[in-house]
Amino acid sequence: GPERAAQVRDLITDVPDFPLPGILFRDITPLLADGPALADVVEAFAGVADGVGSVDVVAGMEARGFLLGAPLATRLGVGFLPLRKAGKLPPPTERVEYELEYGSAAIELRAGTLTPGARVLLVDDVLATGGTAQAAARLVEQCGGVVAGLAFLLELVALGGRDKLRDRTVDTLLRVEQTGATDE
Ligand code: PRP
Ligand code: MG
Repeated sequence: GPERAAQVRDLITDVPDFPLPGILFRDITPLLADGPALADVVEAFAGVADGVGSVDVVAGMEARGFLLGAPLATRLGVGFLPLRKAGKLPPPTERVEYELEYGSAAIELRAGTLTPGARVLLVDDVLATGGTAQAAARLVEQCGGVVAGLAFLLELVALGGRDKLRDRTVDTLLRVEQTGATDE
């Protein structure tokens, strides 16, 4: 209910000027440390999974998507696919590169771990600019999967990530409209 949602919200701590000046960092570690709140979040994600039809596997974006996606997978009784930052997985991998504000990044999936045609629920903690999520969705599709939906704990609405995902099913458990001058 709304009271539990407020408790979860209060456990996400705003940290100004981290990791760089001007960035308002959203720290989920107090939430992860709270058993009932963590269970509430996993249960809310399970509700999202129910709403997107069948889910064959959960995929999470390194690193914080692992922390929420893996417990969700066990809750749903399905497997978990880590979408890793470049260079962490042994070959063969599939890779998608994407632009950052400065420079570029890449995420990878171990080849052969995604069954072609599988319906995938993507999970991450924060939807900011949407760059990470868009790359993750493309990676799933490049590997022959179907993106059933994307679920996030917190949406930073002002950064417009939803625009990058507009043809997709996106659910966010919490939203903040106002962000700092810059945000993360
Ligand atoms: C953060 C966050 C999301 C992403 C959102 O991850 O956990 O994955 O940024 O930003 P975007 O919508 O603008 O792409 P980050 O890469 O900072 O690192 P971590 O998850 O490994 O801590
Ligand atoms: Mg992340």
